[in-house]
Amino acid sequence: MCGIVGYVGHSQALPVILKGLHRLEYRGYDSAGVALLDAEGKLNVYKCKGKVAELERHLEGKDSFGTIGIGHTRWATHGEPNDVNAHPHFSESGELALIHNGIIENFRVLKDALIQNGFSFRSSTDSEVLVNLIEYIRKTNGCTLAEAVRIALKQVVGAYAIAVIEKGNPDEIVAAKQSSPMVIGIGKDEYYLSSDAASIIDYTNEFVYLNDGEVAIINRNNPLHIVKLSGEDSPVDIKKLELSISQLEKGGYPHFMLKEINEQPQTILDCIRGRISPDTGEVILSGILDNMDKFLNAKRIIIVACGTSWHAALIGERIIEEFCRIPVEVEYASEFRYRNPIIHSDDIVVAVSQSGETADTLAAVELARKAGAFVYGICNVIGSSIARATDSGTYIHVGPEIGVASTKAFTGQVTVMAMMALVIGKALGTLPEETYLAVSKGILGLPELIAQTLKMSDQIADLAKIFTYAHNFIYLGRGYNYPTALEGALKLKEISYIHAEGLPAAEMKHGPIALIDAEMPTVAIATLDQTYEKTISNIEEIKARGGKIIALVSRGDDLARRSADYCLEIPQTVECLMPILSSIPLQLLAYYIAVYKGRNVDQPRNLAKSVTVE
Ligand code: AGP
Ligand code: GLU
Repeated sequence: MCGIVGYVGHSQALPVILKGLHRLEYRGYDSAGVALLDAEGKLNVYKCKGKVAELERHLEGKDSFGTIGIGHTRWATHGEPNDVNAHPHFSESGELALIHNGIIENFRVLKDALIQNGFSFRSSTDSEVLVNLIEYIRKTNGCTLAEAVRIALKQVVGAYAIAVIEKGNPDEIVAAKQSSPMVIGIGKDEYYLSSDAASIIDYTNEFVYLNDGEVAIINRNNPLHIVKLSGEDSPVDIKKLELSISQLEKGGYPHFMLKEINEQPQTILDCIRGRISPDTGEVILSGILDNMDKFLNAKRIIIVACGTSWHAALIGERIIEEFCRIPVEVEYASEFRYRNPIIHSDDIVVAVSQSGETADTLAAVELARKAGAFVYGICNVIGSSIARATDSGTYIHVGPEIGVASTKAFTGQVTVMAMMALVIGKALGTLPEETYLAVSKGILGLPELIAQTLKMSDQIADLAKIFTYAHNFIYLGRGYNYPTALEGALKLKEISYIHAEGLPAAEMKHGPIALIDAEMPTVAIATLDQTYEKTISNIEEIKARGGKIIALVSRGDDLARRSADYCLEIPQTVECLMPILSSIPLQLLAYYIAVYKGRNVDQPRNLAKSVTVE
């Protein structure tokens, strides 16, 4: 989720590490730290909540010499942002220091076993469990650090990019990777390590990208050595990189927004990691399960949000009402907070917010709490104001979202609300087992279907070129596709500055169809669902008046092709999850139209990533 930098060589490590951590700051983080080994092998760890600049102030006057070290910027997933939870983490003996990007899913089981074996813990992070597991194995087996890391990781379930150094061994860093990025820079008698080549590109253009399930033994006196978790050697494949720093920060994409759109197979995987059993399909959300009595007795759920999060909430409303039969109301937080709303103590108020800092949503949460409602948060930023103001919650775990236009957070929010509806519906007995399993299986299948949908990128880029002339757009959908139409319209208007309006498709004949002519294109979401035929009729009505139509249809649907001018075919999944798939082409359409219009896609005019003011 966040940043790692390491160095071992013949120069001082700290300047390399700090420069690298600064280079990674764009990704968003909450804490920073560094571990250094001096020539005698003395292990020093310095870390704090806050920015790298605060770490630098913390380091003033400290013993920060050493030609080997590891540094970390934290994006908290387990344990709020504070000095103790910051990385690096010492092992209990103080002999090891570890930094970790990712999530150890089975950290609780591992932690209990270590406590049984006499270990105690300083932090509430999942990462500290890993460093103590490595220490336990190293001492029990009397093996090397690298061997202990390899054996420990065979017990770990989850995502990690880690680096470990040990007291008394000032020549070696051991690194490993599973689902989180890790790259090793090859210098002259020196090695660099990072989660992102952009942070070490100043020193070398020769890189080895670690693969999942690999452990790297990075020793200044030896050639780089990589082994698999099985113990057998892995080839060292050195690649030359000629990308600019800016290109590297964006993962080779031209914009953060395009990077984040394309990250969605991975971010949905991260969002559901440890929450759905791939074997049984069981959904486990601790925030819900720990407060199930509240949900079982809820008379009403009120969801408060803004912007894209409000669109996600509209989809959540449909899913929760369909599966849990609890009345749901979705409110613009800005309206809710000022209209003296009726809030009962047996209401549940759910706040949806990527940043967790949106002023209106925070105010709505505080109003709800004062009224005695149970408040549940669905946020992306751990320890954010809204997350801390709620009674409990579920983080969406999609990693830092840099582009102002929300994409991966939207699909993460919908995914979490779908999982919530499954857990609550099952507990209430309002959800048939076969539906529960079908939707759970559908969620597990999302990363692959999103990856398939992303393959339409070039087709959508070509289509976008045709519509850069437009000054207005209409987006239409019914049922689950109506909020998706709203979201598609928002994406277009906020980054291309073309006015776009989302509507329930049936509403066209109540006025908006007067707008239709050859200059007013329409995007119609007409995937196969219970209102498909009616949406096709709406498309026909628009066509009859000379309107140009882009139809988003289910793969293999030929009927829509006869009506629409352009068809974008997407894979089919269970109806309540279709907004996650259909939002992808709409994100791409907005992105490419904005790019062709020369807009600042990542930071559109007048907009901020987090609206912390009213
Ligand atoms: C969406 O693309 C916009 N960036 C904006 O509407 C955003 O969704 C809204 O400001 C809410 O932000 P939040 O999710 O961080 O609360
Ligand atoms: N899960 C770890 C923590 O919460 C690592 C988070 C990260 O990737 O920065 O500390």
